[in-house]
Amino acid sequence: READAAAAPALPVAGGDTVTGLLAEIAAIGVDRVRGGYSRPVFSSAEHDLRAWYLAQASKRGLQVDTDRNGVIWAWWPGEPPVDTSAPAVVTGSHLDSVPGGGAFDGPLGVASALVAVDLLRARGVRPVRPFALTVFPEEEGSRFGVACLGSRLLAGTIDPDRARSLTDLNGDSFAEVAARNGLDPRFVGADPEALARIGTFVELHVEQGRGLIDAHQPVGIGSAVLGHGRWKLSISGEGNHAGTTLMADRKDPMVAAARLVVLVRDTARAHPRARATVGRLQPVPGGTNVIASRVDLWLDARHMDDAVTASVVAEIHAGAELIAAEEGCTVTLTEESLSATVHFDPALRDRLATVLPGAPVLDTGAGHDAAILSGFVSTAMLFVRNPSGISHSPEEYVEDSDAEAGAAALADALEALLIS
Ligand code: GLV
Ligand code: MN
Ligand code: MN
Ligand code: MN
Repeated sequence: READAAAAPALPVAGGDTVTGLLAEIAAIGVDRVRGGYSRPVFSSAEHDLRAWYLAQASKRGLQVDTDRNGVIWAWWPGEPPVDTSAPAVVTGSHLDSVPGGGAFDGPLGVASALVAVDLLRARGVRPVRPFALTVFPEEEGSRFGVACLGSRLLAGTIDPDRARSLTDLNGDSFAEVAARNGLDPRFVGADPEALARIGTFVELHVEQGRGLIDAHQPVGIGSAVLGHGRWKLSISGEGNHAGTTLMADRKDPMVAAARLVVLVRDTARAHPRARATVGRLQPVPGGTNVIASRVDLWLDARHMDDAVTASVVAEIHAGAELIAAEEGCTVTLTEESLSATVHFDPALRDRLATVLPGAPVLDTGAGHDAAILSGFVSTAMLFVRNPSGISHSPEEYVEDSDAEAGAAALADALEALLIS
């Protein structure tokens, strides 16, 4: 044993970090004093600070860090003993960007748990027989450029890079411009088959975004599936005019059509069991108290386990929107911004994790994840950690300290099993 230890290169061991301790370190970054919670859009100063924090954490652990052409951060466990770097790697990670006014755990919990899992594996003396990396994916939420999981979609080649380059944020800045200002070469964003081929197995730990683990009375669960989901932009055009001088009978007010459309979205989803449809964002143009809007843009998020039902829900909403728009003297267009089919994670990997984590319930989720994008290409699994509020994409999202540490231990157990055999 002594001889073994002497032969292995000395590695810095972070030691003593807890998931809650790491989350406390980033608790001041990206606080949104207007909306409450956290706003950490990709390539914002908050996300920049989070990346810098992450790079310091990875370096402190002796991980070899590099940011790829799509802005995905990779932190590689240095071989000890050296492993065949061409063999498929075990990879774990999540994201650091957030929705507007989001909680502290969606993304960062998986990132912090991966760092602590590294410490736990080191403390256990685990010697991986295959490459091992941690990742952080950019723009998972699609909060800035409108397409969720943009980093993993680019890497996997499931979004046309020309389309990605031309996506714009609220300021009208394109992804290409913003990426270039943040050290990426926009000419080279897109499918990265070499990076993808390095991943053999991907495991993402995430805060649960519903009530499954509360009801199961368990701190940690295993993911089985992600509901199919998509985003559509509806633009309703009417006639901009003066709020004081335009008689009610003379109006073509797209805001009225939008209000009716929001109700239609709710009613259409209710008519399809287990469907979810939401308008969470609506933008009147130009947006003045004493101005009848000339146009209203609103965004529809629709989800169902059966992709055919999602398609029907959207088709019914589209047809209804045309009727409503016509009745209000307006016109409407619908544009698909993204669409992801229902994903079932690798059943063999899920069963393997179930043996490593006996008693962990198996759950599906209505939330999208980079793991779901990658599962089209590599063996993928997820772990969920109990959220006692059952609420997410809100400052109410929560994880108990003991559950956070249980999650990191479960992740370490899963990774150990995958890394040593
Ligand atoms: C991202 O979290 C999503 O599910 O929309
Ligand atoms: Mn999210
Ligand atoms: Mn997330
Ligand atoms: Mn998500």
